Amino acid sequence: MTEVTQYPQLDLNYVADCNRLEANDKLDEKLRGKLGQFMSSSAVSTLLAGMFENVSGDHRLIDAGAGVGSLTAAFVERVQPHANKIDSVCYELSSMMNHYLSDTLKGCSDTCKESDIQWEQRVIEEDFIAHAVTLLSEKEFSPIYNKAILNPPYLKISAKGVERTELRKVGFETGNLYSAFVGLTIKLLEEGGELVAITPRSFCNGPYFNDFRKLILDNCSINKIHVFNSRKSAFKADKVLQENVVYHLTKGEPQRETVVITSSSCAEDPTPYVFEVPFSEVVNSNNPDRFIHIITNEEEKNIAIKAGGLPCSLVDLGIQASTGKVVDFRTREHLSKEFITGSVPLIFPLHLNNGSIEWPIPNAKKPNALLNNEDTANLMVKNGTYVLTRRLSAKEEKRRIIASIYTADIADVEVVAFENKTNYFHALGKPLDDELAKGLCVFLNSTLVDKYFRQMNGHTQVNATDLRTLRYPTREHLISIGKQVDFNIFNQDQIDLVIDRVLCDS
Ligand SMILES: C[S@@+](CC[C@H](N)C(=O)[O-])C[C@H]1O[C@@H](n2cnc3c(N)ncnc32)[C@H](O)[C@@H]1O
Repeated sequence: MTEVTQYPQLDLNYVADCNRLEANDKLDEKLRGKLGQFMSSSAVSTLLAGMFENVSGDHRLIDAGAGVGSLTAAFVERVQPHANKIDSVCYELSSMMNHYLSDTLKGCSDTCKESDIQWEQRVIEEDFIAHAVTLLSEKEFSPIYNKAILNPPYLKISAKGVERTELRKVGFETGNLYSAFVGLTIKLLEEGGELVAITPRSFCNGPYFNDFRKLILDNCSINKIHVFNSRKSAFKADKVLQENVVYHLTKGEPQRETVVITSSSCAEDPTPYVFEVPFSEVVNSNNPDRFIHIITNEEEKNIAIKAGGLPCSLVDLGIQASTGKVVDFRTREHLSKEFITGSVPLIFPLHLNNGSIEWPIPNAKKPNALLNNEDTANLMVKNGTYVLTRRLSAKEEKRRIIASIYTADIADVEVVAFENKTNYFHALGKPLDDELAKGLCVFLNSTLVDKYFRQMNGHTQVNATDLRTLRYPTREHLISIGKQVDFNIFNQDQIDLVIDRVLCDS
């Protein structure tokens, strides 16, 4: 361990970085995954600390899941020499981390001494969630902190996990440690208090984070957001392939007119691109789920206006998007490699091919059919026209949404089955009108939809809920789009040309 007793001309971020690298070497890989121990480099920490606005006066700072204290150190660097006093509270469960944390905090204390800033510190070696819930449940609870800086652990909390029970005590439902940490910290923050966090981007949309988004948007203004242009950039040394986002919130403040969105290739990039976006475009009031839409430049803004401004929801079109009902491993005994008597087509993502369905595929990795019997009857839909999309796209694929049309003439059957890694569009349980389906399929495969989807969605998964929240052209426009595309030469140029022609002329 680095022995730090005296720091001539102390560079606190450097001290924290040395501690981080030493701690990293000692981490048990299994425990690391369990505790989500991916730590901030000095560049990431400085980026976070740089977002605070109110740097003078007294700071009551919380760093929940503090690791070796890199974020607290960057905060101290940021507010000195303006600050008067810093009361620092670090929560850290791991005793191994705490060894290094003490060293970083010693550096913070020395820096404050040099700058004539009063310094108080407290390390709480307990589970932050349980501890925060106890505090928040006290009768006489009053908010404690006016600054929070966080890089919390990222890990799913199971529906029956103890954390869930704890969180429910303070009326908060959430399925990930990171949203639990940020949510509880917001609750511990005073009105006017600032919070800066780096977390995965997944909370910006999707139903799993509805409560968390509500907690943020009902209690705080979102003032600044920073995104990295590459999925690897925030924690590149740790090989974390996660789209991360950094944000600055102020508790109890009404939303500002605009949100400042910055983007850079990595945290070390000295000249991030700055783009100011009206709050109403970041969180569109038309969207009841209040997705947070991160628009980083003029082109994205135009796409958001064009795609987000389309007139129809799926409900308006009388269409629904659902996840395929067949989970292959749950119905193993009814799967059939070949299409045999008594079976029906079972469509997997691998059957989707350039706008159409290629079926059956001889010697494919997946079965081609499902036996039609009493046990499988409720997994089937009436044979007819549907639009299918893949739920997962491979990284190398050009588009996130890949759609194909399934048509009834594929086999002489009454019913058909769609596998769970596909989504299918239907007319409220019935097949779609052919012309409408063609247009819908073309629209979903367009560059416009792809770019819009990427703005909303950090991950490569496309769920039925994501498809439900997209905006769509009118029925007439979809039919016109479908008519203008030749499915025999189904290529991107043709698709985008037709989309442009129909939607721009409207
Ligand atoms: C993603 S790391 C970040 C560390 C540090 N904030 C940084 O940015 O370098 C999360 C930290 O939270 C700690 N941690 C995990 N679960 C915790 C819990 N329930 N209570 C307190 N700390 C926890 C881990 O040991 C880990 O050090």
